[in-house]
Amino acid sequence: MGKLSRALQKAADERKHTQPLARPQPTQTARQPLPFAIVPQSQENGRTPDPHLVCLTGECPEAAEQVRSLTTKLLAVSAQSPPQVIAITSATRVEGKSIVAANLAVALAEMDGSRILLIDGDLNGPAQHDVFAIERERVLNDVFSDQLDLPGSIYATAAENVHLMPARSSAKDEVTSISQERCKQLIEKVRRLYDFVIIDTAPIMASAVTGMLAGAADGTLIVIRMNKTSRHTVRRALEELNRTGAQVLGCILTFSKHFIPDALYRFVGTTTDLYYRGYGKRR
Ligand SMILES: Nc1ncnc2c1ncn2[C@@H]1O[C@H](COP(=O)(O)OP(=O)(O)OP(=O)(O)O)[C@@H](O)[C@H]1O
Ligand SMILES: [Mg+2]
Repeated sequence: MGKLSRALQKAADERKHTQPLARPQPTQTARQPLPFAIVPQSQENGRTPDPHLVCLTGECPEAAEQVRSLTTKLLAVSAQSPPQVIAITSATRVEGKSIVAANLAVALAEMDGSRILLIDGDLNGPAQHDVFAIERERVLNDVFSDQLDLPGSIYATAAENVHLMPARSSAKDEVTSISQERCKQLIEKVRRLYDFVIIDTAPIMASAVTGMLAGAADGTLIVIRMNKTSRHTVRRALEELNRTGAQVLGCILTFSKHFIPDALYRFVGTTTDLYYRGYGKRR
């Protein structure tokens, strides 16, 4: 059996064993009402969401299905208490993090009644306002600098039950004033308001804020662009994440050139698998 046939067979077997979506366990603290200042998003700005936001746009049902399957696997990481706050990062730029984060948020919201907050924590190159076609006026940066209360920075999106806290590119001194404590406080607040919080971040090796956010999250997923990012680079990113105390849950391989079911947004259970299975460029 050829390599491709084996991959297809494996993907088909995996699909057979996909579990139905699990509901998250109720959080210990009583659920609080949602922030009251959420601005309903009209699509009057004439912009439309990024077509790669497949879970919302329906552009590519196969890819959307893979994100849903990824969601299931993610929740199965710990059936008793699935990660509630999940950071998405990568080693380098343009590996597909923002699109994965946005799709994951929409897929999680499809679970009955789950409320999701997507935080754009990439203060170097925020993208979620473009992905969801949101006109952002108040942003995460203003919350960090105490110029805004948390609810004022949260927007409703075109996806039901998905709220977005957008960001804007920040000046260097603005970033250096952000502390680990600040990130923890923010996450503890939003944890009480939402069933899941997804944090899109800048590449771990390019931003100290990413380490702070990942360290404060329950788990971190590392997005790896296939045939681009070397194993050596991924290893360095993992070392950096370990230093911040981040709990790495697994890897998502993106930009697969060949459409192999389950490979487009493949969730690799353990990061070492990645090397043994021979993904990523050798160096
Ligand atoms: N699986 C995919 N297949 C093809 N194109 C994709 C895929 N995922 C994302 N893209 C496109 O690639 C570009 C980069 O994606 P994205 O913004 O998600 O990457 P990123 O890792 O967040 O980048 P950055 O490091 O700049 O924040 C975007 O134009 C996006 O629409
Ligand atoms: Mg991005």
